[in-house]
Order: sequence, then structure tokens, then C-alpha cells
Amino acid sequence: MTRLSGITPSGRVQLGNYLGAIQRWASQGTADDLYFVSDLHAMTSTHNPAMLRALTGEQLAVLIAAGIPAESVFVQSDLTRELGALSWVLECTCTFGEAARMIQFKEKAKGQAGVRLSLLTYPVLMAADILLQGADEVPVGADQRQHVELARTLAKRFNATYGEVFTVPRAVLPPAGARVRDLADPARKMSKSTRDSAGVVFVLDEPELVRRKIRRAVTDDARSVEYDPRRPGPANLLEILAACAGDTPERVAGDYGSYGALKEGVAEAVVETLRPIRERAGGLLDDPAELERVRKAGAARATQRGEHRLHSALRLVGTGH
Ligand code: TYM
Repeated sequence: MTRLSGITPSGRVQLGNYLGAIQRWASQGTADDLYFVSDLHAMTSTHNPAMLRALTGEQLAVLIAAGIPAESVFVQSDLTRELGALSWVLECTCTFGEAARMIQFKEKAKGQAGVRLSLLTYPVLMAADILLQGADEVPVGADQRQHVELARTLAKRFNATYGEVFTVPRAVLPPAGARVRDLADPARKMSKSTRDSAGVVFVLDEPELVRRKIRRAVTDDARSVEYDPRRPGPANLLEILAACAGDTPERVAGDYGSYGALKEGVAEAVVETLRPIRERAGGLLDDPAELERVRKAGAARATQRGEHRLHSALRLVGTGH
């Protein structure tokens, strides 16, 4: 069984990425799994090339520091030829309506001038990421579920139209932490690219900063600590705590009598969860030659594993050899 997933270097890795995705990539992974930094996806809106390169290195280091074996990681753009080709084949399998229906596209395109065409087509590139490698399972947070569904639809349609090439993937969500919300504005999800980072805990933040952000988290004026998904501020804190502790939000709520105590508990759990990752990532970032070696080996492995599916797909649509 192959699991595959990716993270986009559109900003620094945040706690939602870790609890919703990376934590499981590291703990449930097997030698067959593939996890990658999807740098090609970070170009769907204005971006800074030097920053993109730096963030790609940082994310690669965080993936390894989180405990994903170096043998399972790669950088997406090292497979540009294969993914570019497969993405085109899949664009020719996807309808405009299907792409335009994607919630993320609608949200991000809203009110924006000069929307890049790639913002519309990026879920198809994501389908190429998944289908090239024959992934069975795609461990993601809730916001990526619809994109994985699209990959599923395209795999089935391609197989039925041209012949069986692609494994039909399925999205797998975590029991807690599937949608971590912004601490300062719990109505929206925590995101790497949010301009105001007061409510966003970054995985490489210093412990004191993490504590400060959590202490300032928005709650409400209720007196008791209980888990109620309709109360987004407190529910978010309890979900974060549960995801760190491998427990349920309902159960961890019972340990606290006030929001003040809950915030201290969440702050300590998050600091201790992130500490080893921050320390290991620091070491890796100080050794660029080692990171480069891991990147090269990952590129060779991922290319070799996916190639035959691309060639079969090209042959079946009536192109290639
Ligand atoms: P990205 O970089 O936005 O997020 C990486 C992973 O983190 C999860 N996530 C969250 N989970 C819980 N709470 C949050 N607030 C939160 N924010 C992000 C995401 O669901 C995701 O699992 N397009 C993808 C990357 C990608 C990919 C792929 C994933 C590219 N190709 C192929 C799977 C398969 C993205 O931008 O994720």
C-alpha cells in the first residue's frame, strides 16, 4: 500500500499542517510511502523566487525532522517533466466545471484581480502528483478532501475511457486536528499564508512565542470548559490539545476548570510536541549538503517509481511510444 501527500511552500509550516497531516505521515508511514514539498503549487499567486527556494528547503527539513524517513521525501519540481506531462493528460480528462467548482479556487479567486490560470488548474496537478505514484491513501486535513475526490474522479474516468492505469486513491483524515483554526480568528482555518500571524503557530516558532500566541487565543464568555463544536474558540484549543495528546477533545476538556488553565495546558502540549522537530530541523538546515543529498536521492526514487504509469497513460491516449 502506498500513502502519499504533500505540503506547499507558500509560507512557513504551521501547527495545522503538523496536526492535520505531517504528524500522521511520520507516525503511520511505511517504507513505500512518499511525502513531498509541492513547490510547483506555490506559484498559483504572486510569489518571490528566492523565498520559494528557501521555504522549500525549510519544509523538506521539517518533514525529516518530524520523523519521516529521508528515503520517503522528495521535492515536487524535481519531477517537473513527468508531472507536467501527466497534468496535461489529466486536464484533458477533467471538465472546466469540475475545476471551477473547487471550494479553494472559489475562495481564493474571489475579488482578486489577475487570477492566475494555475489557481484553477492546480487541483489537476495535484491529481497528477497522486496518480503518478499509484497512491492508495492520501492523508490530508479536511481542506484538501475535495481535491483528493477530484483525483479519484479523474482516475476512474481515465481508467474507464482508456484502460486501467491508475490506482483510485482515497483521502484519509485524522481523528482530531483535521481543521485547526486561527487562534485570533477561529472562524477561519489556520493558514501559512495568513498576513497577520498573531493567531498562527509556526512549527519553528520559539517556545515563548508559541506560549504567547496561545495565551492570547480568542475564547468566549462561557465559564465552563467543555467540548462543543459550535463554540469555535474553545473547541479549537481542545482539538489542538487532543491532537497533541492522541486523545479526544471531550476527554481532555475534563482536565480543566478554566480557560486560563486550559490555555496553559495547550501551550505546554504544543511546545513539547514541537520542541524535538524545531531542534532537529535546525540541525538539518545547518547542513545544506546533507539536505541536497536527500533531495537528489528522493528525486531519483520518485521519478523511477512513477515513470511507467506516465508512459502507459500516454500510450493509451494515443500518444508517446
Ligand atoms: P497545504 O500545504 O495547504 O497543507 C499541507 C497539509 O496540511 C493540512 N492543513 C491543515 N490541517 C488541519 N488544519 C489546518 N488548519 C490545516 N492547514 C493545512 C492540509 O490539509 C494538507 O494535508 N495542495 C496541497 C499539497 C499537495 C498535495 C498533493 C496533498 C500537493 N499535491 C498531493 C496531497 C496529495 C496543499 O497545498 O497543502
